[in-house]
Amino acid sequence: MKALVIYDSVFGNTEKIARAIGAALGTPDDVPVLQVASVTPAQLEVLDVLFVGSPTRGFKPTPAISAFLAALPAEALKGVKSAAFDTRIPLETIKNGFFRWIVKQGGYADKLIAKALAARGASLPIPSGGFIVLASEGPLQEGELERAAAWAKTIL
Ligand SMILES: Cc1cc2nc3c(=O)[nH]c(=O)nc-3n(C[C@H](O)[C@H](O)[C@H](O)COP(=O)(O)O)c2cc1C
Repeated sequence: MKALVIYDSVFGNTEKIARAIGAALGTPDDVPVLQVASVTPAQLEVLDVLFVGSPTRGFKPTPAISAFLAALPAEALKGVKSAAFDTRIPLETIKNGFFRWIVKQGGYADKLIAKALAARGASLPIPSGGFIVLASEGPLQEGELERAAAWAKTIL
């Protein structure tokens, strides 16, 4: 099985989740965990499993993740089992009711990543994953690395 984890991260939390996913699937040699800027098209060839993740920023993935996905040819991920993940702030920590409503309506990066993966031919055999940071810069909520690892294995 050839697997790859692609991520973007501003403060390092999504990177930690990406590394937990990679480690759950295999050794770093078997399952490279790559920052999106360092991915080359050749790395997407002969791929069985692909995870793509981003911090949620303004209800969306980062511009680098969005641009990367948008640039993939239509059939680039045909036959690849894929899953999207993001990191996000918990709704309950947003004190202002109106702002909480806005954030809830806006949604999270995972949905847009999953949609882009499907549009490039990938299958999405598991629901996407949303992992919690306690504040914008982190830290991750306790147990999220373990939850990410367990979630990632369900794709196998
Ligand atoms: C400019 C900005 C916009 C953000 N927008 C959202 C958002 O729409 N929804 C949300 O849940 N969290 C939002 N956050 C919190 C980020 O999701 C959080 O910073 C991120 O998960 C941390 O991941 P990273 O360490 O990989 O960058 C935002 C943070 C920043 C700085």
